[in-house]
Amino acid sequence: MFLTPDTTITSDLLNGVLAARGIEFHAGDTGIVQGRWASWVLTGLPTAAISTLRRASEDLEIALGVDAVVLTVERGRVTLSIARRDWQAAPLVLPAPGTLLFGHGITGDAVTGTLEDLPHLLVCGASGSGKSVALHCILRSLAALPASDMNLILIDTKFLEFAPYNGLKHIYTHGHEVITDHMAAARFFTEAVGVMERRYREGPKKYKPIVIVVDEFADLISGPMGTYIQEKTLQLAQKARAAHMHLILATQRPSVKVLPGDLKANIPSRLTLKTATAVDSRVSMDANGAEKLLGKGDGFYLHNGKLTRLQVPFATAADVIKVAQ
Ligand SMILES: Nc1ncnc2c1ncn2[C@@H]1O[C@H](COP(=O)(O)OP(=O)(O)O)[C@@H](O)[C@H]1O
Ligand SMILES: [Mg+2]
Repeated sequence: MFLTPDTTITSDLLNGVLAARGIEFHAGDTGIVQGRWASWVLTGLPTAAISTLRRASEDLEIALGVDAVVLTVERGRVTLSIARRDWQAAPLVLPAPGTLLFGHGITGDAVTGTLEDLPHLLVCGASGSGKSVALHCILRSLAALPASDMNLILIDTKFLEFAPYNGLKHIYTHGHEVITDHMAAARFFTEAVGVMERRYREGPKKYKPIVIVVDEFADLISGPMGTYIQEKTLQLAQKARAAHMHLILATQRPSVKVLPGDLKANIPSRLTLKTATAVDSRVSMDANGAEKLLGKGDGFYLHNGKLTRLQVPFATAADVIKVAQ
């Protein structure tokens, strides 16, 4: 059973906990509840109290019985947000077709992007952190476009997540099949590079986007065609943007073998879910912190050098298929 924040914690409790630490503030009676997070805008807070609060965040977690306390200061507005693992993520609300919804920020703002401004995406996180759910969520945005405007290449050599997509009209392969075989994956990477080069020769125009989505990228790279696919992936990451081709790669093991520096450098946009270690967090988003995330879609989105904490909405393959029809 999931709980929602407003039923288990009140502003009174928060007031009491802060007052006990000598911090007086005036929060509204009810916080803003957004999925897993509940937030209170703190007004009349002296600057010194902000640093006291930051230092006390771990104590506050214990005192409030929550799993995360985050203090954000944006344009002079101080917001205290709390989350618990067992609070339910917000349901998926579909944005405009073609807009990618990555999740919702702590106070509820939608965190979105477009293929043009990505142009590629790396999704990292430990097993069970919510990578595949995040891919379904992104695919739902892409499949909301008519199949005549969007081509997908879906690769899942671990046979885990993409099977329900077999037959989806947006899939570029013969028979609209998900690729589960290493040799077939290698052939499609060769073909994708060929399409990219042809588009380059033909010059800039509005090409139909081709999005290559790989779940369990590490499995592909450690497989029999790994070195070859690694090479093709790098060529695509370096040049495919102008050809309207995009890579979305999810991996549990963000090791140097799977994500060498030159590949990472060409995929600056990252969605990092809970990682197993601080080292994995740094490989994935160049900073610590992802190892302390709560799991189940609690993540950081790194784009243009800015890190935004967000909650990925829950989505399944069935949701994607529904919008595609
Ligand atoms: N955004 C989310 N909201 C709610 N629950 C989630 C979310 N992401 C993942 N989960 C839960 O965690 C489980 C594992 O997620 P999954 O995407 O399969 O992890 P991964 O692919 O990283 O191994 C899901 O089956 C679901 O129960
Ligand atoms: Mg998965």
